[in-house]
Amino acid sequence: EKGGYEHFMLKEIHEQPKAVRDTLSGRIAEDGSAVTLGELDLSEEVVRSIDRIHIVACGTSYHAGLVGKVAIETLARIPVDVEIASEYRYRNPIVTDRTLILVISQSGETADTLAALRNAKMAGNRVMAITNVVGSSAAREADHVLVTWAGPEISVASTKAYTTQLIALYLFAAYLGQIKGTIASDERAKLMNAILELPLKIDEVLKTAPAIETIARDFSSWDDAFFLGRGLDFAVALEGALKYKEISYIHAEAYPAGELKHGTLALITEGVPVIALVTQDELYEKTVSNIKEVKARDAHVLALAWVGDEEIEKSVDRVLYVPHTLPFLAPVLLVAPLQLLAYYASIARGNDVDKPRNLAKSVTVE
Ligand code: F6R
Repeated sequence: EKGGYEHFMLKEIHEQPKAVRDTLSGRIAEDGSAVTLGELDLSEEVVRSIDRIHIVACGTSYHAGLVGKVAIETLARIPVDVEIASEYRYRNPIVTDRTLILVISQSGETADTLAALRNAKMAGNRVMAITNVVGSSAAREADHVLVTWAGPEISVASTKAYTTQLIALYLFAAYLGQIKGTIASDERAKLMNAILELPLKIDEVLKTAPAIETIARDFSSWDDAFFLGRGLDFAVALEGALKYKEISYIHAEAYPAGELKHGTLALITEGVPVIALVTQDELYEKTVSNIKEVKARDAHVLALAWVGDEEIEKSVDRVLYVPHTLPFLAPVLLVAPLQLLAYYASIARGNDVDKPRNLAKSVTVE
């Protein structure tokens, strides 16, 4: 049942190219010119009326939402707020008939996310769900549904579900932009081509697993790890840190790189592992200068950077390279190395990878 892999998590990490292909299937026109999401049942008139989106989710799905915000704001110029469901449901958010509430839930059964969905429905608001389970409560109760085709995810730690949520969000953002006329058609074609190339590039990334295993073994003797990045790199850093703490039980924190000097830098000591994500070209110099700050405190820095970025080697101890794509799509390629880092750190510590202590796959209680 684990298809020759030692754990479901490892199997599911390796299923990501296929999961992405399946999630893209039938949703991009043959000539790569347009996104087709008829299944959403969202009329052009409604799309044009949406002036704000509230993305609501928990855990890893929330982290996907953070990437979704950038995707939607960039491609469709609609302001997006992303909120943790257990917070959102207990406050009194400002919602109008032009607000779309977008819940993201792999299982479609997470109690807090469902409560947020139901509150919104009860108030007469429009709700859309991105979910991996076709017959789930979220899928049944939302007005509009976009399914991720990750296939069943057994491991408690979410991997391929996150990656397909990203794909669904990029497609949705492009779809909105296409209707609203906020992306030029040549830009859209460029984006679609880049998205279609992602499965092969994830395959490339997965080939670096042996190198990641070595690094993870070294890092696993430390009781802390810090994940840094700016912009989309920070959004993925959050997911990398969650995965790391969840299955290796090592304290991990993600910070926007520029925020370090506002307090966290005090925690950086000699040898402590710092994982720095540097794929956002416009922010490159800024992140490198933050890397120098942690290096000055003798941290051990692993960078995740674009293939060909030899410059970065001067500032860090080790580099994991990912194949080049649009910086906007980087999260899809960055997350697999971080999942593998967490996986191998967990193995090195002798943990039960697929069933980490204290956690359940589907959090159906509050
Ligand atoms: C972390 C993880 C959790 C889930 C969260 C939401 O690896 O799996 O953080 O992402 O419990 O679950 P769903 O997406 O089913 O609502």
